[in-house]
Amino acid sequence: MVFAAAQNTASGCPAHRDLPEAIAALKRQRNAVILAHFYQEPEIQDIADFIGDSLELSRKAAATDAEVIVFCGVHFMAEVAKILSPQKTVLLPDLEAGCTLADACPADGFAQFRAEHPDHLVVSYINCSAAVKAQSDLICTSSNAVDLVNQLPADQPILFAPDQNLGRWVQSQSGRELTLWPGSCIVHETFSEQGLLQLKLDHPKAEVLAHPECQQHLLDHADFIGSTSALLRRSEASAAQEFIVLTEPGILHQMRKAVPGKAFFEVPGADGCSCNACPYMRLNTLEKLWQCLESMEPRIEMDEAMRLRALAPIQKMLEMSR
Ligand code: 13P
Ligand code: SF4
Repeated sequence: MVFAAAQNTASGCPAHRDLPEAIAALKRQRNAVILAHFYQEPEIQDIADFIGDSLELSRKAAATDAEVIVFCGVHFMAEVAKILSPQKTVLLPDLEAGCTLADACPADGFAQFRAEHPDHLVVSYINCSAAVKAQSDLICTSSNAVDLVNQLPADQPILFAPDQNLGRWVQSQSGRELTLWPGSCIVHETFSEQGLLQLKLDHPKAEVLAHPECQQHLLDHADFIGSTSALLRRSEASAAQEFIVLTEPGILHQMRKAVPGKAFFEVPGADGCSCNACPYMRLNTLEKLWQCLESMEPRIEMDEAMRLRALAPIQKMLEMSR
C-alpha cells in the first residue's frame, strides 16, 4: 500500500473519507486517468479527470497519453477504451457492471438477425458487446445516431440494434425506415408517466429534458431530447429555471454544479421504486476504484482479431461524427 491512512477493511483500503486523497496518490503513481460517465455516484464524478457521454468518453480514451485508464462506467464503455487503446491497461472497478441493452443482444442471435437481412447495413448503438460491434458496419451513440443515419445513402436498408426506443426516435428524426432489434434499457423503461405528469402539474414552467432511450409515450412529453451531455448543455443554455429530467439521476449532480440557481427534478420509477438509478453503473464505488488502482485488476482483455473487427465500425463513427 502506498498511502498511510485509517483503514476500513482487512484488504488495506483506507477509510472512506480518505479515499479521494488515496486514489489521487495511486493515480499519480500508476500514471492513470479516471474517466467517468454521468451516471456514476457523485463522489466518483467529483474525483474523475473527465466526465462525459459515451461519445466524449470514447474520444478521451483514444486521446489520453496516460498508461492506465480507469473506466468508471459500464463494461461496454471500458471495452471501447480497450479497443481504441490496446497498448494501455484498462481497469473497470467492478467487472459485473454490465448493461441490459448489451445483455439483450447476444452475438449468436445477432449473427442470425444479420443473416436474415443480407442487404442491410448494420448500425449498432455503442451499448453492445465487442462481439456485436465486430459484426457491425457502423457504431453510433445517442449524441450522433441521427446525424450518422442521415449521412447514409437514402436507398440503403438499415438494421439498427440493440435499442428499439433509440431506433424509433432516430426513425422519427431522420424519416428513415429502420429494422429494429427488440432491446431496451431497464432504467429508461421504468420511469412513471404518472410521476412525470404530477411533476409537470407541480412545476408548470419546468422544461422536460429526456434521453432518447425512453419510450415514445414519455418522449411525447419532452421539450428537449438528447444524450446526457446534450441534456446538460441544454440545462445551461435554456432560459428555463426548472427542469424535469427523464434519465438516470446521476446527471443531476453535474446540472446542479453547472447552474446552481436552477432547480432539477428527477422522475421516479413506477411504483415509487428507486429503480431510476442504473444498478450496473452504481456497482462502482470509491472503495472499488481504490482497490482496482492498488491491484491493477480487474482489467479488460480482448482477443486481438475480435478487437480489430470491432475497431473498424468505431473508427468509422469517429470519422463521420462532426
Ligand atoms: P449517453 O451516451 O447519452 O451518455 O448514454 C449512455 C447510456 O448508457 C444511457 O443509458
Ligand atoms: Fe445500460 Fe440502461 Fe444502465 Fe445505460 S442506464 S448503462 S443503457 S442499463
